[in-house]
Amino acid sequence: MREQLEQIRAQALEQLGDAATPEQIEAVRVRVLGRSGELTEIMRRMPEVPREERPAIGRLVNEIKTQIEERIAVLSEQLKRLAMERSLVEARIDVTLPGLNVPRGWLHPVTQSRERMLDILESMGFEVVETPDIEDDFHNFGALNFPPDHPAREMQDTFFLFGGLLLRTHTSNGQIRVMEQRKPPLAIVCPGNCYRPDELTVRSSPMFGQIEGFMIDRAGVITMAHLKGVLTEFLRAFFGPESAVRFRASFFPFTEPSAEVDISCLLCGGSGCRVCKQSGWTEILGAGMIHPNVLRAVGYDPEEYQGFAFGMGVERTALLKLGVEDMRLFFENDLRFLRQFRSGEAVS
Ligand code: PHE
Repeated sequence: MREQLEQIRAQALEQLGDAATPEQIEAVRVRVLGRSGELTEIMRRMPEVPREERPAIGRLVNEIKTQIEERIAVLSEQLKRLAMERSLVEARIDVTLPGLNVPRGWLHPVTQSRERMLDILESMGFEVVETPDIEDDFHNFGALNFPPDHPAREMQDTFFLFGGLLLRTHTSNGQIRVMEQRKPPLAIVCPGNCYRPDELTVRSSPMFGQIEGFMIDRAGVITMAHLKGVLTEFLRAFFGPESAVRFRASFFPFTEPSAEVDISCLLCGGSGCRVCKQSGWTEILGAGMIHPNVLRAVGYDPEEYQGFAFGMGVERTALLKLGVEDMRLFFENDLRFLRQFRSGEAVS
């Protein structure tokens, strides 16, 4: 029996030595230590053993049992650690790898420019008001002192819609819309798109943004001097303090007197180049004191109220600021172009 026991021990230890998986270990355990395992069987045959040898055999059985159990525990532990190490290696995260680049959008350069212009105007006390792109003749022309069939209407070719409606040719309808609803004092800017049946060229587009601005108060409070001050301040904030600003007499039906405003050419700084046609100046906006007929059209008494208005093209102004030479680039949405204006620094 002793020999048998030693054989069981040797065999079990050898098989455990070969075991590579938890299943193989478990199989040895069941076969040797299980309820009908080899050791259990031997114990059943104890009565065959002479009395005086029984304690020694019993001890030997216990010793073998303990030894195999311990070996199984150690092996299982090793296997578990190996499995853990393997899974750690497989799932390893290399924290030094470069991260994934999550693509982020950015604002179109024209939008950036418009927001910057509005920021400056708001900081000067103007309130932003949106007004409609689809207008009637009264708000786009009539109330702005364009008499019916007057040649001044031809300054602004028009897309006409059904039912007497049209696409606004300028944001000056904003003056009328706001004045109809409010009483002075007013300091308002109306950004928005405008439409004229023009070709898309280097300098023009059939759809373009404008920002209209106007300031109205009791007669004598707001003068042409304020107009000059506000626009000079605005243009220097947008284009840089070194920009020179020039006012030229001009004509608009809805302002009197009227002015066109130039800034010194940003490209040549005023010495004359191809872009400014050697003049040293670039026209940047139209402006003037609001015509008494416009005030009358919205029910204001021109003896009581007075103010100025100005309007400027957003894309045209953005072109100058960003040094872009062709307006069409703004509408083509070629990412190679747009990427250059990613950071927003160009307009700030
Ligand atoms: N509405 C004019 C245009 O589109 C610009 C302008 C606005 C001029 C306000 C004077 C006053 O050309």
